[in-house]
Amino acid sequence: MREPIIDQREHGAVAQALLGWPLPEQTEDIVSMAWLVERLRSSRVDWGLLDKLVRFEPSGYTRQTIARTTACELLLVSWLPGQASRVHDHGGSGGASWLVRGMLRETRFAWAGDRLVPEVIVGANEGDLLVEFPDTIHRIDNASRHGAVSLHLYAPPMQGMTPYDASLAPESLRPPRPLAAKREAPGRRRRPRAT
Ligand SMILES: [Fe+2]
Repeated sequence: MREPIIDQREHGAVAQALLGWPLPEQTEDIVSMAWLVERLRSSRVDWGLLDKLVRFEPSGYTRQTIARTTACELLLVSWLPGQASRVHDHGGSGGASWLVRGMLRETRFAWAGDRLVPEVIVGANEGDLLVEFPDTIHRIDNASRHGAVSLHLYAPPMQGMTPYDASLAPESLRPPRPLAAKREAPGRRRRPRAT
C-alpha cells in the first residue's frame, strides 16, 4: 500500500474541485455525522479529475490523502481485482466510504470474547455508500474482476487505524500457509540436528 503525496497547498482546492463543495475546516462546522455523510452523498463529482487521481498498483491498493483539515479528511482508494485491506478500525473516527467506480465487498467484524468474528458481509455496487461508525471494525476487498475506486470521508481526521491480526479472525481470513521450506539440492541434505 502506497500513499502518493499531493502538494499540501493544493489539498483544499483539489477536494473542492473533486466534490463541488469545500470540506469543513473546523470541527464546529460539522453539524452532525449524518449531515457530513449526506454532503458526501450529494457531491457533484468531477469525474475527469477523479480519473486523473486514480492510481492502480499491482503491489496493493493505493490510499491517497486528497485533503485533511482540522475537522475531517478525504481519502481516495484504488483497488485492483483481488486487492484487500487488512481487518482494521479507524482510530475512533467515523465517516463513510463511497464507492464511485466498480464493486467492493465489506466484511464487518464483532468481538466474541477475544476473537473477531464476521458479523455481516455486504456487497457494494457503484454509487453505494457505506457508513462507518467510530467502533466499526471491517475489511474491504475487491472480489470483482474489475478495478474499483472509493472515496472515504472521516471526521475527525484519522489518528491512525489499528490493523488487527488476521489470525484472530476465522479460518477464511487467516494468512496463507507459509511456503514449504526450500528443497535442498540432492547430496547436500543435512542431518537433523540433535536437540
Ligand atoms: Fe475502513
